[in-house]
Amino acid sequence: MGVAQTDNLREKSQAVRQKLIGRTKNCEKVASSGQKVLAQEVVQTVDLPHQIYIDSAEGPYLTDIDGNQYIDLTAGFGPNILGNKPEPVERALASQIKKGWHFGIPGDGQAQLAELIKDSAPAIDEVMFCNSGSEATMFAFRAARAFTGKKVVALFDGSYHGIHDYALIRADMKSERSTPSSITLGAGIPDQVSQELMMMLPYRDENSFELIRKHQENLAMVVIEPVQSSNPRLDNQEFLDGLREVCTECNVLLMFDEVITGFRIEYGGCQEYYNIEPDLVTYGKAAGGGMPIGIVAGSKKVMNTFSGADDTPAIFAGGTFSGNPLTMAGGIGILEYLKENKDLIYPYLHEQGDRLSKEINDYCKSNNIPAQMMNAGSMMHLIFGGENIDSSRDIDRSHYKLEREFYLHLLGHNVLVPGIHLAFISYAHTPKIIDQVIEAFKNTFEDLRADGYL
Ligand SMILES: Cc1ncc(COP(=O)(O)O)c(C=O)c1O
Repeated sequence: MGVAQTDNLREKSQAVRQKLIGRTKNCEKVASSGQKVLAQEVVQTVDLPHQIYIDSAEGPYLTDIDGNQYIDLTAGFGPNILGNKPEPVERALASQIKKGWHFGIPGDGQAQLAELIKDSAPAIDEVMFCNSGSEATMFAFRAARAFTGKKVVALFDGSYHGIHDYALIRADMKSERSTPSSITLGAGIPDQVSQELMMMLPYRDENSFELIRKHQENLAMVVIEPVQSSNPRLDNQEFLDGLREVCTECNVLLMFDEVITGFRIEYGGCQEYYNIEPDLVTYGKAAGGGMPIGIVAGSKKVMNTFSGADDTPAIFAGGTFSGNPLTMAGGIGILEYLKENKDLIYPYLHEQGDRLSKEINDYCKSNNIPAQMMNAGSMMHLIFGGENIDSSRDIDRSHYKLEREFYLHLLGHNVLVPGIHLAFISYAHTPKIIDQVIEAFKNTFEDLRADGYL
């Protein structure tokens, strides 16, 4: 691309940005003056294509502090499966707030929510609560090491399991796809974590079964997102069945990290969709109805590590806000509603997610646009470049700039997807709103073509 052409594209992108700036004056003020004391605004992945600040949210919409309304495909990074501020959760929270929201000493909510979670999937005998998905995976890794007496925990390339040191490893892109080595993500994590205490397995690649066999003596647990958020697709049955088999054969625990997929793919999560019983499960996001939550759940024999029952080595676990009554109320409010209406909600989410993906994929194909919408029911990711994506390692990163441009223009059409580019629809997204989303995606592609990006 020549210099003149690049300048021209920069100008087009500036024009969209200027239009957004023109209608988000209050946001601009906060961005330029109010954020100096923040070392980091929320999390890096939020990385909006244009900085806006949200004032309120209702159903499928977000409204910024300038009064602009957007169709929300963020779903609060996954939790808001009924949309924003759903009535059953609002009612449950309001009723708890009247009684107080933090006691330290538990109320009766923990046992009620634990019963709901236990009833959602046959692999679960017991449940413990913490405050985030990251805390849940941290406790689960510790429990597995204590239970097995082994020190290595294996993750798959392309996965995400949160922000603690044992979760922040990823595949070294220089290593072979089938035998990935691992490196730590970001500064501050000792190399021993990636080299001695964690291990990387290739996702959707049967060589991972051989690696598990080879390392079984030191391997406490294999952890998998049964549907990876970086690579959302549902055709994982064979791989997951094989994984369950090899873990049993090698006496290695299998954990499903259902922080995103729990109560989203089905009421019983991916465990229900694939009919597989893992030894441990972590939940978060949707299970709290939008309140901060993390959950470790599983078979009694492994969960005994939290109590020391039956002479099981006991781990230390706790937290000031763990199992707090407001979060428990939010969780009970949402799960009771989801349970009662699951035969309507989950088929709807799959049908609309598939429809949205198909329409966009058909459009891209017939217009020669190098993008595809991958989806697992209601969670989706528009991937630019690459045909056979078995792992996020297969995604062609050279399209990153085009991707950023896409989401900037999409925001101009009042549809919001933040920086991780993982999009969700909710039960509040009616077919008419899904039509509007499809239209906005198509118009955005047209913008990019008109501007010379495609
Ligand atoms: C599969 C998975 N595990 C763990 C986490 C961490 O959860 P949290 O952000 O609540 O700490 C996430 C967050 O996106 C996740 O997707």
